[in-house]
Amino acid sequence: MAVALLDLRAQHASVGDDTVAAMMRVVDDQTFILGEPVEKFEEAVAALSNTRFAIGCANGTDALLLSLRALGVQPGDEIVTTPFTFFATAGAIHNVGARPVFADIDPDTFNISPQAAAAAVTQRTKAVIPVDLFGQLAAIDAIAAAIPDLPIIEDAAQSIGATRMIGDRVIHAGEAAAMGTFSFFPSKNLGGFGDGGMIVTQDAALAQRLRRLRVHGGLKTYFHEEVGYNSRLDALQAAVLLAKLPNLEQWSAARRRNAEYYDRAFARMSDVRTPVIDPANVSIYNQYTLRVERRDALQAHLRSKDIGNSIYYPLPLHLQPCFAYLGYSEGAFPESERAANEVISLPVYPELEPSQLDEVIDAVRGFYGNR
Ligand SMILES: Cc1ncc(COP(=O)(O)O)c(C=O)c1O
Repeated sequence: MAVALLDLRAQHASVGDDTVAAMMRVVDDQTFILGEPVEKFEEAVAALSNTRFAIGCANGTDALLLSLRALGVQPGDEIVTTPFTFFATAGAIHNVGARPVFADIDPDTFNISPQAAAAAVTQRTKAVIPVDLFGQLAAIDAIAAAIPDLPIIEDAAQSIGATRMIGDRVIHAGEAAAMGTFSFFPSKNLGGFGDGGMIVTQDAALAQRLRRLRVHGGLKTYFHEEVGYNSRLDALQAAVLLAKLPNLEQWSAARRRNAEYYDRAFARMSDVRTPVIDPANVSIYNQYTLRVERRDALQAHLRSKDIGNSIYYPLPLHLQPCFAYLGYSEGAFPESERAANEVISLPVYPELEPSQLDEVIDAVRGFYGNR
């Protein structure tokens, strides 16, 4: 029996009626740009993230781009980030004219090492972008302690609703940074019927500038204080996302249950290392990512059995051809490079049946002769 890495039709079967009805209300109103659905969804995401403001935009990449612009990042500035992330994190830095400066990851969590991030800071550094990879928060508190004077833009594209204990407080994704950025790409824990993004912040001035930047840099129509973008969250997407939002917590809890089931099944396998979640974190498991021996052969084996899987990410960003100009060479970030060679992500979506989880487990165990 084939098991898909992600089956969005299973989710649609449970919430399809609500989402389509919400879309039809927008169609009936004919208010397609910003308006009530976007405002309501912004309020809901701000409440979920425990932030004062939320600003919808076109996608998670633009959320990063707008955040960098809101901080006043200029060509020639440096932004410290991780090389083990989806391309958009560094692409956004490049696209505002700044220079991505990479710092290696913590091999346990795959998130940027606070010490490495601090060591990468120069006089030209204007911000740090940690990524909450695979659904668990980066060590925002340790980064802030190691680099107290620099703003943090938290790339929370994969971590909406995830939490971290900081001191005696439970902090939500996006809450503790200068700005947190979300993506509603369909494969995220909260995914739309297309692209969507959002920025959350506690800072009224940043929120105001973000609102302006997403509509060509002017809040009064046809008057522009600066050059911005056309990067609004589509009202149809906002309506769909708002209809799905009440399910987010239970979907993420189901992913956690699936992850625990795998963790138990793989616990005693010497060739497989299950995900390490920092004890301060509650992950939303946007991905369930193993480190394994003979990764490429395992992937071929899973493919032959129609078990969905993917490599997030096969080539760290410092080795991407487009970033050759940055001058990094192989070996620059050994932990990121090792992770790129060892990781494989397995199906973890909420609607997986126990029999499907067992099928995945049998295939992995079968490969290592560990049945
Ligand atoms: C870590 C990370 N950053 C940024 C993005 C960009 O988001 P989007 O695809 O919505 O532009 C994504 C997701 O695709 C992501 O996973």
